[in-house]
Amino acid sequence: MIPQTSPLANYLSSRSALDEAIHRVLSSGRYILGDETAAFERHFADFIGVPYAVGVGNGTEALHLALRGLGIGPGHEVITVSHTAVATVAAVEMCGATPVLVDIHPASYTMDAALLEKAKSDRTKAIVPVHLYGQPCDLEAITLFARKHGLFVIEDCAQSHGALYRGQKTGSWGHAAAFSFYPTKNLGCLGDGGAITTRDPALFEKIRRLRQYGWDDNRISQGPGWNTRLDELQAAVLRVKLAHLEESNQRRIRIARMYDERLSPISELTLPSPTPGTTHVYHQYVVRCTDPSVRNRLMAHLSEHGIQTAVHYPVPVHLQPAYANCLPGSLSLPVTEEVCPRILSLPLFPELTDEEVGGVAKTIETFFSRSV
Ligand SMILES: Cc1ncc(COP(=O)(O)O)c(C=O)c1O
Repeated sequence: MIPQTSPLANYLSSRSALDEAIHRVLSSGRYILGDETAAFERHFADFIGVPYAVGVGNGTEALHLALRGLGIGPGHEVITVSHTAVATVAAVEMCGATPVLVDIHPASYTMDAALLEKAKSDRTKAIVPVHLYGQPCDLEAITLFARKHGLFVIEDCAQSHGALYRGQKTGSWGHAAAFSFYPTKNLGCLGDGGAITTRDPALFEKIRRLRQYGWDDNRISQGPGWNTRLDELQAAVLRVKLAHLEESNQRRIRIARMYDERLSPISELTLPSPTPGTTHVYHQYVVRCTDPSVRNRLMAHLSEHGIQTAVHYPVPVHLQPAYANCLPGSLSLPVTEEVCPRILSLPLFPELTDEEVGGVAKTIETFFSRSV
């Protein structure tokens, strides 16, 4: 069986260092907001290339607090996409604001910046671009548009740890950025975790208070707040894994190149096409079939041969029962609706061997040579 992703393989690849880090925390007696979290926040901010990072409980809370910290609330609109994890849209709603959905570009699967003008209204306060699958969005067009109209940009970097746009990391372009450290992410912990990055010292202080009851340094609540803290165990795990992130992203890129080489002759498949000027870090390697029935049969064929695949995401947010056609913009998302039933995420994680990649490619080649 070849899994689509494997947090277990990732744990086993650094087992002794991770076990040691976990035992260090267990023996320290400090389990919440101690030295591990502070050190991880410093190292992660350095890695992204910004002065500040705040560790929180998960990626959804990272988006929520970033939006709250920027004053987004009831009566405001936030432009984002429907082709994303539901968390992106849910976080906007957690603030009491209205998500306004725009379509994606068919080549990058990310926000089509040309559609922002039409989506903007007097109530628009922010844009949340999602660097989906590890592919950076069109950050130059999005940040230019935001600057022109006085809007905030909050990058959803849940799938783009280490990805570059014009040589600069995603997570350093917007007013703030939100990361998830869910175990399968390019940088994943062994439970839930998330972080916000920013260059703005006032926003940093505000988000630090929001993450813990609105407390100031004397533990007095100076405003509203939540409880969403990165714990010491996860921070210690993340310190170990952060040291390997560049290397494991390089391995993901290498695997993607192997898939590219083997699968490019198959005319029935559209392969990922990284946008020029960006470094795609392949959180997912997503192929697109010409037809939904071909996708479903390919998925079944791979499964019969012991190869697990996944669909990210089978139903766009605006068509899920909780949101069905009630969000502004959701009646006009043709690319999103065209893409969702045709896409398939192949196995991709740094520990996947060359032989396994070859086996996946061969099984796909056989499928297309015989059945389409
Ligand atoms: C694009 C995107 N945004 C937000 C999130 C939310 O992160 P978390 O699951 O850590 O809350 C995820 C995680 O699945 C994601 O993929």
